[in-house]
Amino acid sequence: MEFRLSPGGAVTGELRVPGDKSISHRAVMLGAIAEGTTHVSGFLQGEDALATVAAFRALGVDIEGPRGGALTVHGVGLHGLRAAQDALDMGNAGTSMRLLAGLLSGQAFDSVLVGDASLMRRPMARVTVPLAQMGAQIETAEEGRPPLTIRGARALHGIHYDLPMASAQVKSAVLLAGLYAQGVTSVTEPAPTRDHTERMLRAFGAAVSRDESGVIALQPGSTLHGCSIDVPADISSAAFFLVAASIAPGSELLLTHVGVNPTRTGVLDILRLMGADITLHNPREVGGEPVADLLVRHAELRGIDIPEALVPLAIDEFPALFIAAACAQGRTVLRGARELRVKESDRIASMAEGLTTLGIDNTVLEDGLIIEGGEMGGGTMRTFHDHRIAMAFSIAALRASSELRILDCDHVATSFPQFDAMARGVGLQISTREAHE
Ligand code: S3P
Repeated sequence: MEFRLSPGGAVTGELRVPGDKSISHRAVMLGAIAEGTTHVSGFLQGEDALATVAAFRALGVDIEGPRGGALTVHGVGLHGLRAAQDALDMGNAGTSMRLLAGLLSGQAFDSVLVGDASLMRRPMARVTVPLAQMGAQIETAEEGRPPLTIRGARALHGIHYDLPMASAQVKSAVLLAGLYAQGVTSVTEPAPTRDHTERMLRAFGAAVSRDESGVIALQPGSTLHGCSIDVPADISSAAFFLVAASIAPGSELLLTHVGVNPTRTGVLDILRLMGADITLHNPREVGGEPVADLLVRHAELRGIDIPEALVPLAIDEFPALFIAAACAQGRTVLRGARELRVKESDRIASMAEGLTTLGIDNTVLEDGLIIEGGEMGGGTMRTFHDHRIAMAFSIAALRASSELRILDCDHVATSFPQFDAMARGVGLQISTREAHE
């Protein structure tokens, strides 16, 4: 499937983008191993989160839905999962594979985790190394790649793990294994990363603390209790529209019920440093997560040196932010973002190629990208089967001078089903075609 976009236009109106992917995955996982029932609303009905649902069904959990974002998980308790008949296919979902590696390390049975071609190339040693220190036994393919074969019936023990990279997935895998470990499990991170696991573990009744020195500790012996979770709209999906409205003259857009957890709002800080006009309205808290409505209006953006401290807090938003940089006056410099090279694609290389096609000068760095703002042409963009690359170039059309054709857009459905329809609804001139047309 590919997208075609006519150049120009503005975005206006009101939009609630789909539910947060990170929170949706965690709601299923913790709901499954809790005692009692968990009711989820606002669940992301995207392929990644649905892969997590399918995995837990295969592990013997009764899950109703999702229907209209409502999901009911009948928890089986910490020790109630059953061996799956086959390998668990996590599709494109790196979060699911890494968090499950932790959770399944503590089970009495063996499990095998596989994924699509992109996921089978992604590094897993970052989770298997600390899990092995806890006593887990996980076999991988060469260089720590999937498939992961996780051996059951291992006695896990708590460790302190000092994360070598800022990764919420690694932190979460260790904490989830910690639910099954003897003794305290703790982690420190080189920079704060999204803390949805810690917040949700607490909501389910586990004892998780974070001290002043940044040590995150899970006490042993917790029992999780089912609860209600209202999943906010995903700020990572909202980011495409924050940038769209910022770059397109005449735009004014209200994005409702967006999760604004401070470990996720780097995109707001970076856009504001660039001169964006974004205001937060009606701030509130749902299920331990801060939420607000975001009003964004067109503004003249300027290039900046992106503060490295903001990088982990905006790690999924750089494809969108690179489009903002392409439309800004002057130069934008990103460094300290090597992690972008191991996402669903190498996002530094994928974005650099498309920006060059559009006529935007850029210099690839090992750990970032330098972008000179300028006029964008049009052309055919490759996405490397990466959902966020497809959506980033879609919004670029608002400032392009001729048509954009974006190849291989099927993966958009992993995080943002109905992206094309929602984008059309607020003013993007986007159409979808089967690739053979
Ligand atoms: C996620 C953590 C991040 C992010 C991913 C979701 C999570 O990955 O890029 O989309 O839900 O924990 P890393 O932990 O690899 O930074």
